Amino acid sequence: MNRLVVGSGNIFGNLVVVGEAPGAQEDLEGKPFVGKSGKFLKNLLEVSGINIYEEVYFCNVIKCRPPRNRKPTPNEISIHKPWLIQQIKLVNPKVVVLAGSTAMKTILEVNKPISKLRGKCFNLEGIEYIPIFHPSYLLRFSQNEINNPYGLTLKDLQNVRNKLYNL
Ligand code: URA
Repeated sequence: MNRLVVGSGNIFGNLVVVGEAPGAQEDLEGKPFVGKSGKFLKNLLEVSGINIYEEVYFCNVIKCRPPRNRKPTPNEISIHKPWLIQQIKLVNPKVVVLAGSTAMKTILEVNKPISKLRGKCFNLEGIEYIPIFHPSYLLRFSQNEINNPYGLTLKDLQNVRNKLYNL
C-alpha cells in the first residue's frame, strides 16, 4: 500500500504539528500520527494541557510513506514542500510545532542540529514556529527526568500551550 496521507484534525485549529513522513500505520490508515510515535506525541500534547481535538491539525512534510521508512531525500522534500506551505497557509494557525529535524530544516531552512534550536520560537509572516525533538527519538528516554530530551520536550510543549491559551 502507498496511500496519500495529507493531514487530520481540526483545520480551524490554532496549532499545526508537522512531522517527517507517514510510517507503516499511517500508510495503512491514511492518517498522520496514528502509529507508536504518533500516539506518544499526541499523549505528550495532552499531558502538556493542549486539547488535541479542538486545537490541532496534524500533517507531515512528506505525504506518502518512504520505502522502508528511510529518510526523505532532498528532492522528495522539495517536491512536497509547496503542499505543506499551502496547508499551513490554509489552516493559518497561531503556532506550528516542527517535530524533528526534517520538519525544522524544511520550514526554517537552517542547518543546525535540532538539539540547538528546539524550544526556540521563530516568527515567519505572523506565525510562530517551534521545533521540538521527533517523538520516535523521545521513545528512548525515561519519562521521569526533567532535563533529558523527554523532559525538555514537555517544557517546550507547555510553552506552546501557554502561547495557545495566552497563559
Ligand atoms: N507519524 C507521522 O505521521 N509522522 C511522523 O513524523 C511521526 C509519526
